[in-house]
Amino acid sequence: MASDFWDKKWADSSSLLHVPARRSPVRSVVDGLECTHSMTLLDIGCGAGAYEKSLSGQVGTVVACDISREAVICAKRTVPDNVELVQTGGEGLGFLRSCSVDVVFSYSVFQHISGSLVKKYLSESLRVLRIGGHLRFQVFERKRLFRQGVVQVLKGRRFRTSAGMIIQATLLWRDNQRLSSLSWPLGKPWSRQELSTILAHLGFTHIDFDSLEDGELVCTARRS
Ligand SMILES: C[S@@+](CC[C@H](N)C(=O)[O-])C[C@H]1O[C@@H](n2cnc3c(N)ncnc32)[C@H](O)[C@@H]1O
Repeated sequence: MASDFWDKKWADSSSLLHVPARRSPVRSVVDGLECTHSMTLLDIGCGAGAYEKSLSGQVGTVVACDISREAVICAKRTVPDNVELVQTGGEGLGFLRSCSVDVVFSYSVFQHISGSLVKKYLSESLRVLRIGGHLRFQVFERKRLFRQGVVQVLKGRRFRTSAGMIIQATLLWRDNQRLSSLSWPLGKPWSRQELSTILAHLGFTHIDFDSLEDGELVCTARRS
C-alpha cells in the first residue's frame, strides 16, 4: 500500500521529509493567483504541513489532505486554526463537494504517483474548483529530468500500490553524489504537451508552465 510507504517515511524523524530546505519553492505556491481571505484552498498531499502556515495566511480556509495517517498526525502539531486536515484513501477528492474550492495546490506529490492517478486528480480538481478557480501543481518534466542528468540511474524494482504500479527509483544526482537514503516511488515524468492536452480536454484554460530546479515543472491552469 502506498500509505504504508509514506507512513514509514513520516514516522521516521530522521527522514529527509523533515528537512525544511527541501521545501523551497514556496515563492511560487500562490504567486499571481489573486488569493483573498474569502477563498478556500485545497492542498493535495500536504505532508507534515510545510506549506500550510504560508498558505493559510493568504486565504480564509485551507483543506489539507494526505494519504498518510502519520503525515496528518505530524501536521496537526503545527498547522494554524484555519487549516482542516483530512486523511484520505489517496485516490481522489470524494470528500469534497463540487465547486467548493477556489485554488487546488499540490507540490511534490504527483511526481510520486502513477500517470493514471495524476489524471484522476486533475479531473477531480476540475470538479471541486469553482468557475474561475485555479489549479497549481508540480510534476517532474520528462525531457529535463532525463536530459539534464538529474536522474542518471533508475533501478526498476517494482512494487504494487493502491494506485497501481510505481517504479521505486534510486536517484543519483548531478554532482554524482549518491543519496542512497533517497529511495522514492517515482511517478510518471510529464511533457508540457501531454499536460496541456489533458488539461484542455478536461476544460481548463490559461494553461501555463514554470520550470524550477532539478527537473521540476509547475503547471497553473484555470477552470473557465
Ligand atoms: C514528498 S511528500 C510532500 C509533502 C508536502 N506536499 C511538501 O511539499 O512538504 C509527498 C506527500 O504526498 C503524500 N501522498 C502520496 N501519495 C498520495 C496520494 N495518492 N494522495 C494524497 N497524498 C499522497 C504522501 O503521504 C506525502 O505526505
